[in-house]
Amino acid sequence: MSNERSGFSSRLGFVLATAGSAVGLGNLWRFPYLAAKYGGGSFLLIYLILTVTFGFALMITEVSIGRGAGTSALHAFGHFHKKFKFLGYLCSLIPFIIFPYYCVIGGWITKYLLTSLQGNTHAAASDTFFTGFIGKTSEPMICLLFFMLLTTIIVALGVKEGVERVSTFMMPALIILLIGISVFCITRPGAMAGVAYYLKPDIKHLSPTTFLAALGQLFFSMSLAMGIMVTYGSYLPKKADLEKSVTQVEIFDTGVAFLAGLLIVPTVFVFSNGDASMLAKGPSLMFVMLPKVFDSMAFGSIIAAVFFILVFFAALTSAISILETLVAGLTEGLHIKRTTACIIMFVLAALLAIPSSFGFGIWSHITIIGFSFLDFFDFLSNSILMPVAAFLICIFVAYVVKPDVVINEVESSGKFKRKSLFLVMIKYLAPICIIAILIFSIMEGMGMITV
Ligand code: PHE
Repeated sequence: MSNERSGFSSRLGFVLATAGSAVGLGNLWRFPYLAAKYGGGSFLLIYLILTVTFGFALMITEVSIGRGAGTSALHAFGHFHKKFKFLGYLCSLIPFIIFPYYCVIGGWITKYLLTSLQGNTHAAASDTFFTGFIGKTSEPMICLLFFMLLTTIIVALGVKEGVERVSTFMMPALIILLIGISVFCITRPGAMAGVAYYLKPDIKHLSPTTFLAALGQLFFSMSLAMGIMVTYGSYLPKKADLEKSVTQVEIFDTGVAFLAGLLIVPTVFVFSNGDASMLAKGPSLMFVMLPKVFDSMAFGSIIAAVFFILVFFAALTSAISILETLVAGLTEGLHIKRTTACIIMFVLAALLAIPSSFGFGIWSHITIIGFSFLDFFDFLSNSILMPVAAFLICIFVAYVVKPDVVINEVESSGKFKRKSLFLVMIKYLAPICIIAILIFSIMEGMGMITV
């Protein structure tokens, strides 16, 4: 075999790269609007409790399986039980579906970054800027290919030289920029009312819907059930304290989501004179609403540029983790070189990204069960395949290979402080919650309920 298996150089390298995967659009765009919609403080509280219980159990399971098997997600499950080889394939199929359309969104972010770096905040704030851009044919394609190529080059450089090095620079930079603009934004006149709106719990939102929305968000935000945590776990040094590492990733991911909310909610609140319904604009919040807000602010073009730099970093490190999982599987499965695997994946992903990109323009008349291409791939992976994979992972660990596989791996490098919590979660609560998310997200996707 031409490819020596390498890994992260240190525990910190793992924590930053894994946080790089976890911190993405989910934190910067989706979390703030969900929190605003589901009663601020109540959502935050539920989300926090779920992170340290459900999120923790699933993440530590995946990382342990990866480190224990010493292979990427493709072979990790088969390593422990031959009959469960298929679970490795399922977990690797999910990033394969996600990667192309994630790069389409990465391309949109690239466009906004370039526009704001040129100081064109005013143009980006016009009503038709977003739909006009995504509906074009060649420009979004060029942006997405640029984003995809950059991701591919970084992954081709290797685990240490590419993935780890980029995350070690981008993640701390992201935190600094985020804290900087959050402080600026919440000290604007009138912003405190927005902060209060964001943090104050609203009892009427303590409902099953809030719980399920928080659970679904957590799943996506922690990059669970798509083989990424398994693959990154296989790069974690054997001596590194596994529980501590997972805890730090959780803190990082949740911290960024919290700060993003603290930045976005009060800023939009001031802009809309306290009309909170502006926040519930969902997906268009980032690409339509925020540019308008920046355009109206003092120093708005600087804030816009900083904001889109950090969104770009977050999206890039997430895309890297998706591609790394695919490339690791391909090099191990076919015994080919990393660069060859990167080229194969780039070509396939570029072809698969075409329908997702054209689906907003020249192919917008084509839909799959009522979805545009991009929304369909998103629905298939996030709402169906990920919960199914997560459920099978729980069953696999709890009842097939038994939780000792995880416990032994964690204890081989430190104390397992939340062992009893892990056991209760993996055996009972997590599978039940996952079935609930599966039903909920299918109903949501089919338009039977709205989130
Ligand atoms: N966890 C990322 C986020 O919060 C999303 C992501 C999805 C990352 C798929 C990797 C793969 O935005």
